[in-house]
Amino acid sequence: MRIEWARLKAESMDEKNRDGNMTDTKSPDQNLVGHYRRPGLGGSLLAALEKAGKTVRSYEDTAAFDEFHMRGRAATRDLARFAEIGSGMRVLDLGCGLGGPARLLTAEYGARVTGIDLMEEFIEAAVMLTAMAKMDRSPAFVRGDMLHLPFDGKSFDAAWSQHTLMNIADKTALFGEIHRVLVAGGILAFYDVVAGTLPGRYYPVQWASDASMDHLPDESEMLRLLDSGGFEPVALHDETAACLKWFESIRSKMNKRSAEAPSDAPPAPGLHLVIGPDTAEKAANTVSNLREDRIRVIMGTWRKKGRVG
Ligand SMILES: C[S@@+](CC[C@H](N)C(=O)[O-])C[C@H]1O[C@@H](n2cnc3c(N)ncnc32)[C@H](O)[C@@H]1O
Repeated sequence: MRIEWARLKAESMDEKNRDGNMTDTKSPDQNLVGHYRRPGLGGSLLAALEKAGKTVRSYEDTAAFDEFHMRGRAATRDLARFAEIGSGMRVLDLGCGLGGPARLLTAEYGARVTGIDLMEEFIEAAVMLTAMAKMDRSPAFVRGDMLHLPFDGKSFDAAWSQHTLMNIADKTALFGEIHRVLVAGGILAFYDVVAGTLPGRYYPVQWASDASMDHLPDESEMLRLLDSGGFEPVALHDETAACLKWFESIRSKMNKRSAEAPSDAPPAPGLHLVIGPDTAEKAANTVSNLREDRIRVIMGTWRKKGRVG
């Protein structure tokens, strides 16, 4: 596979709207930026793909590393079903990461997706992977802060969040922004981590290096915040057991692969490229937090209150 990172990068930066709101707002939490920063991410992804002899021909070929949440693609399809994502729906993916969910919603559900993320290198990688996937219609990606959404009011039919709310301390402000950009009757779909019954958590985890960037209400507080933010519940599922099962299946797959692969085989491109060198430690801490009921994972849909029309 011949890789032209410089060209893909230049193309990605030509796209309009690349820097959604980064120049006119307060600077984002620098600890959080440091936690997610992956300099040269696009180049590392391309190098890992090339080394492993993998060619990207479709959005499905990047599934091993472009969904940055527990249960990967399966969780995205479950949430799309709960949220009744359909053809032509305008979906805002908050904290879109590398754009895997945005590409899936576009390709499989016909949605018109816009992804927004704080991290420049994630947005660059999202644009690059989308170009490589050669989709009939592509999602759009904007770099920006979801607390200051650079969109007009009532411009989306659905807002989508997977493993992003836990980074936001001021959820009242966030739900206010989401409420503003949704049409009346619009859907907020989320798949996120909440606090369990036991206080305190093991760090680092995928979304936080320490407690300063980890903002988890428990489930009832989350429901209260949504209600006062102007959203009524449609559906709610506890995904904790399914996430633990998923970690277990990943572990046995990895054990099998390392037993079977020749010792000089290149590592398969995977989430470690995005999560960083301490991926195993973060995953182990997440499993302990789930097992000890320090965190839970919930998936749900809420509807913007008020008259439709
Ligand atoms: C754990 S990742 C999940 C990425 C993606 N939703 C997925 O599931 O593949 C959390 C993402 O939220 C983004 N994020 C955190 N705070 C943000 C903010 N205030 N505005 C926009 N993006 C933010 C991070 O940069 C990161 O990409």
